[in-house]
Parts: sequence; C-alpha cells; structure tokens
Amino acid sequence: MMKETIFVTGATGFIGKHLVEGLIQSGYSVIALVRPGRAVKDLPIGVQLHRGDIRYVESFTDAISNCSVVYHLAALMGGTDEEDYLEVNVHGSTQLAKAISQSAPSSCRLIYFSSVAAMNTAFASTSCRTEDDVVEAGPPSDPYGYSKFMAEQSLTKYCQDRDIGLDILRPGLVYGEGGSGWFPGLIHDIMDGNIHRLGSGSNRLGLIYVRNLVDLSIRLLDREPSSSPFIAVDSSPPSLDDLMEEISGFLGKTLPSRRWYSPEAKIRGFIGGIMSKRSDRPTALTKSRVALLLSRGQWFCGDKIRTHLDDIEMRSRKTGLERTICWVRQRRHLSV
Ligand SMILES: NC(=O)c1ccc[n+]([C@@H]2O[C@H](COP(=O)([O-])OP(=O)(O)OC[C@H]3O[C@@H](n4cnc5c(N)ncnc54)[C@H](OP(=O)(O)O)[C@@H]3O)[C@@H](O)[C@H]2O)c1
Repeated sequence: MMKETIFVTGATGFIGKHLVEGLIQSGYSVIALVRPGRAVKDLPIGVQLHRGDIRYVESFTDAISNCSVVYHLAALMGGTDEEDYLEVNVHGSTQLAKAISQSAPSSCRLIYFSSVAAMNTAFASTSCRTEDDVVEAGPPSDPYGYSKFMAEQSLTKYCQDRDIGLDILRPGLVYGEGGSGWFPGLIHDIMDGNIHRLGSGSNRLGLIYVRNLVDLSIRLLDREPSSSPFIAVDSSPPSLDDLMEEISGFLGKTLPSRRWYSPEAKIRGFIGGIMSKRSDRPTALTKSRVALLLSRGQWFCGDKIRTHLDDIEMRSRKTGLERTICWVRQRRHLSV
C-alpha cells in the first residue's frame, strides 16, 4: 500500500523533530521544509528534505503537490521584533495556505500549530481558561501572541473560503527532550542549587510533554478537520511549587524554603539573564522567564481535544519529567 505523504514545516525545530519521528514511526512518508543553508541534525532516516522559506510561496509550492496533510510549525518564537513576527508567523502561514490551494490535492488538510499565547491571558481568571476565552478577551498585546492570533484568523478565513480542512492546535508550555528555554533552565538551576521558590508558587502551569503533543497531533488524522481551535495541555496542570518540588525530587535535591517574591524575583531574573549570557549556562532566571513562571495566566483546560480524541491516553508528568531530566543530564555530561 502507498504511504500517505505529509509535509512538515518547522521540522528542524524542537517540536518538529519529535513530530517527524512520530509520523515516520506511524508509517507516513515525510517531506520536511528546511531553510536554505541550514544544517540538519537529528532528523530520522528516510525523511525527504525540501529547501525553502515559509515567507516565499514559490520556494515550496511544488513540494506539496502530492501531500495529503500539511503540519505547519515554522514560526519565530522569541527575541525578535513585531515586523519579523508578522512576516514569518502571519504572512508565512498564508503563503502556505496559498500553496495548498494552488498545488495540493483538494482533500489536503492543514494542521496549524498556534499557541495558547494567541489567547489574551492578561485579564484576571481564577479558573481554567478554555478555547472561548480569546473571543471574549480580544487579541493579545504581546507581538508573538498577536502574530499567532492573526495567523489563526487569516488561516481560518482563507481555508473556509477555499474549502481546505483546517485544525488549529494551541499547545501550552511544551517541554521534553531537545527543548530549550526556561524548562531545561529550571532543571539546571535546581541541579546547581541556584534558585529559591518563586512567588507564592500556587499559580498553575499549562504544560504539555512534547511526545503527548505529537500523539495528539497525529491522532487528529483519524478525525475530520474541526474548524474550531483546540488547547493542547496535559491533564492536572501542576502549580509552580509542585513542579519545582517534583524536579528537585527526581534530582535528589531539596529546595530552599526561602521565596523570591516580585520584585526581588524579577531583579534576580534581570541579573541572571546577564550572567547566563556571559557563561552560556541555561537558566530559568532571565527577566522574561521569571515573568512567565510567576504568571497567573498559564492555567488552561485541555478537555476539548481529549474528548474529541476519545480520551486519548497521555504519558504522565512523571514520565515526561524523568525523560527530560535524563536528557538534560546527558547533555550536561557531554558538555563538561
Ligand atoms: N515550544 C513551545 O513551548 C510552544 C508552545 C506553543 C506553541 N508552539 C508553536 O509550535 C511551533 C513549533 O515550536 P518549536 O518550539 O518547535 O519552535 P522552534 O524550535 O523555534 O522551531 C521553529 C522552526 O521554524 C523554522 N522556521 C523559522 N523561520 C522560518 C522560515 N522563514 N522558513 C521556514 N522555516 C522557518 C525553524 O527553522 P530553523 O531550524 O532553520 O531555524 C524551526 O524549524 C511554533 O509554531 C510555535 O509557535 C511552541
């Protein structure tokens, strides 16, 4: 039997590599969009590479002519200006939809990796946020969140007008092997005894283990495209205190009882950011990461997608943390 061919943008990124691996293991053929001149590491054998840039439709239109599914993960995520976010995350997404309508089979569907950042979390909420919150709250004000919101809007309209099946996934804070950013930074800080408890510690974090996210994304293929977005987070979101306790438990460390409340935590983050640039050591103590960890806006409800996928079984946080910590340890060992 001919294998279905799937096109993946952002395949060289943290989540993209796991997704490509999951798709190959599930028996699909994969064509990965890779930017010209970029080195490619850690993609499974058998993946076909296509060089192109999401901003330029002509660089990838032909590559999707035989694809039944397109997963769109390519995006800019941090440390860039508003114009670049709009160009890659919004304009790039519409270029991709245009390529699908021009060249892919009429049954080709698009699965877009948006983010919970597309939802405006600035307003106060004492309960779990659902997919509908964005409708009530309007667009988010930060440039990344705004670009993901705008990409959702323009893809929805474009795909509706041209009858292209669309699914929108809004992952929460994704962690796992191969990740970068605040999560491995937090593990390093706890390993080094370099962190106190942050804030009250009672705020919940909408985490999702990367392999759970991959499973959800692939299982969507068993369902008809749904026009409404899905939040993708693990069940039982931990509080920040729980998460820090769990990580220190795995590492055999004890967290200091002292707390850094804001503004001390933010000052520590500011200094930590400067120190980590100098030493190149991963840390959760940068200004923006401390703000993220102290944020009350990270509590999301993932029931809708789990129901849509018949209560799909997900790996526990214990498994996700063990594997991630093991990966961080190996990396540390190799870099000594
Ligand atoms: N990580 C999270 O916690 C999280 C949470 C919610 C949503 N998401 C969403 O999930 C998706 C994947 O996230 P990630 O963590 O895997 O991000 P990542 O590691 O930063 O990967 C981003 C990917 O996009 C590619 N890319 C960037 N600009 C491009 C361009 N102009 N043309 C083609 N490809 C381009 C990158 O290619 P290079 O390798 O060449 O740079 C890379 O493969 C993103 O859409 C993100 O918004 C992530």
